[in-house]
Amino acid sequence: MRITSVFAVLAAAVSASPFPMMMTIEATDDYSWDIINWDSGCTGSGCFYSFNITGEASTVSRPPKPAFFANCAGEIEGAPYRLCTLYDDSTVARRVAAKLLPVNSTGTGAHIQVSYQYVDLATPTTFWNFTGKANTVYNQFTGPCLNFTITPDTIWGVA
Ligand SMILES: *[C@@H]1O[C@H](CO)[C@@H](O)[C@H](O)[C@H]1NC(C)=O
Ligand SMILES: *[C@@H]1O[C@H](CO)[C@@H](O)[C@H](O)[C@H]1NC(C)=O
Ligand SMILES: *[C@@H]1O[C@H](CO)[C@@H](O)[C@H](O)[C@H]1NC(C)=O
Ligand SMILES: *[C@@H]1O[C@H](CO)[C@@H](O)[C@H](O)[C@H]1NC(C)=O
Repeated sequence: MRITSVFAVLAAAVSASPFPMMMTIEATDDYSWDIINWDSGCTGSGCFYSFNITGEASTVSRPPKPAFFANCAGEIEGAPYRLCTLYDDSTVARRVAAKLLPVNSTGTGAHIQVSYQYVDLATPTTFWNFTGKANTVYNQFTGPCLNFTITPDTIWGVA
């Protein structure tokens, strides 16, 4: 089954359940993602970005997290999430998405938000959603690719 349809089936099952349970987990600093080779810029038709991203597996912290390695690329500040392409061959149902946050007329820099959603490693009817963001710069016309980290600040699950 395609990963998108795994989540569609789960969402349908959750909304059909008489007691879907939302769980919110407090974010901690000990789990973050590595952005590798952030490359972004703006032209007359808008701003764009491309980067690779890795998240390590963690079996000790709750909830346990599967690893991932993906490439994200997209454009236009304020556009909806764009799915990233997973490069690894893990069989855990997961998806990664990214978007450029809008910047107002006095704002500067680039603001990237990333989201990671996966099916719980032990309970296939539960899924987890992690979201985090970082402030960075549009570097393509001014400097080399950048590496930085994103620490998720919002974590929730549905069982
Ligand atoms: C991302 O990773 C892929 C696979 O290793 C590699 O081919 C590609 O050059 C990388 N892209 C960047 C922007 O680092
Ligand atoms: C514009 O963005 C800046 C930087 O993020 C923020 O401090 C400021 O409050 C924003 N102004 C408005 C009107 O949203
Ligand atoms: C995580 O949840 C948010 C809010 O519902 C959603 O917009 C986003 O697409 C989800 N992330 C993924 C990777 O599916
Ligand atoms: C970013 O990380 C990649 C992969 O580890 C490395 O090849 C590259 O040199 C790093 N770039 C910078 C600017 O440190």
